Amino acid sequence: MSRVAVVSGGSRGLGLAVCERLLAEGWRVATFSRTPNEAVERARDKYGADYHWSPVDVRDLTQLRGFAKTVHGEFGRVDLLVNNAGLLHQELFVTTAVQRMQDMVSVNLLAPMVLAQGCARFMMLGGGGVIVNISSINAVRGYRGVAAYAAAKAGLEAFGRSLARELGPANIRVNTLTPGFFDSDMTAGVTGENRDRIRRRTPLGRFGTTAEVVDAVVFLASAQSGFITGQTLIIDGGITC
Ligand SMILES: NC(=O)c1ccc[n+]([C@@H]2O[C@H](COP(=O)([O-])OP(=O)(O)OC[C@H]3O[C@@H](n4cnc5c(N)ncnc54)[C@H](OP(=O)(O)O)[C@@H]3O)[C@@H](O)[C@H]2O)c1
Repeated sequence: MSRVAVVSGGSRGLGLAVCERLLAEGWRVATFSRTPNEAVERARDKYGADYHWSPVDVRDLTQLRGFAKTVHGEFGRVDLLVNNAGLLHQELFVTTAVQRMQDMVSVNLLAPMVLAQGCARFMMLGGGGVIVNISSINAVRGYRGVAAYAAAKAGLEAFGRSLARELGPANIRVNTLTPGFFDSDMTAGVTGENRDRIRRRTPLGRFGTTAEVVDAVVFLASAQSGFITGQTLIIDGGITC
């Protein structure tokens, strides 16, 4: 029976690329986003019963908990959770509305915690599993305009370390993947000037590709990382080194 992955935010960007890779490698994949799109329809057509998508807004915690139960009901197990869905709002902190701050914390920190709890319970029933939380280099270096996002992602990294201690005895590994800039809808608004600056400051002199970030997710999900837990893997071409 093939393994089952839950990927949050699998309709676009990194989440979509993770779903496509895992499906191609024989996993059954359950994912959600707020809205479906052509990529979701394509995956449905191609993978049939090995693929599940439903509409979930991670800010609705009841819906989110229900998703983990639905996946377990449909697939009978949960082996991997990739907490990928994220939200970035850039604005100087002094003018950022409290509701925006709340959104950053709800989507980037509270939702991954609630989904991890829902999935970990089913992983325990199945004898183990892996959780990969997607953070950002904003969690480890300060940048203007992203204070609330950075705070939430730093919280996610701390959450992962403590969760690894609790879940290790249940044979569940928990790691954080911390990417630098890669092209997606989230970064479509970054100006040419800022893109040049990021490239200049990156020792490898280029942006990472989505596929390179997916490689790291797959590594952390695999037996090749079987003795790695509670760690943060930074994949950023060296910009934070
Ligand atoms: N791109 C970068 O340079 C970069 C760098 C470091 C870290 N990251 C992190 O990498 C992860 C993926 O980023 P990305 O660039 O691939 O983002 P993206 O292109 O904006 O895609 C985000 C995905 O999450 C879903 N999503 C967003 N808000 C949601 C909500 N409230 N409820 C349910 N689903 C929601 C989106 O679908 P819907 O909009 O339809 O809901 C979409 O599928 C995020 O955690 C991000 O913080 C990105």
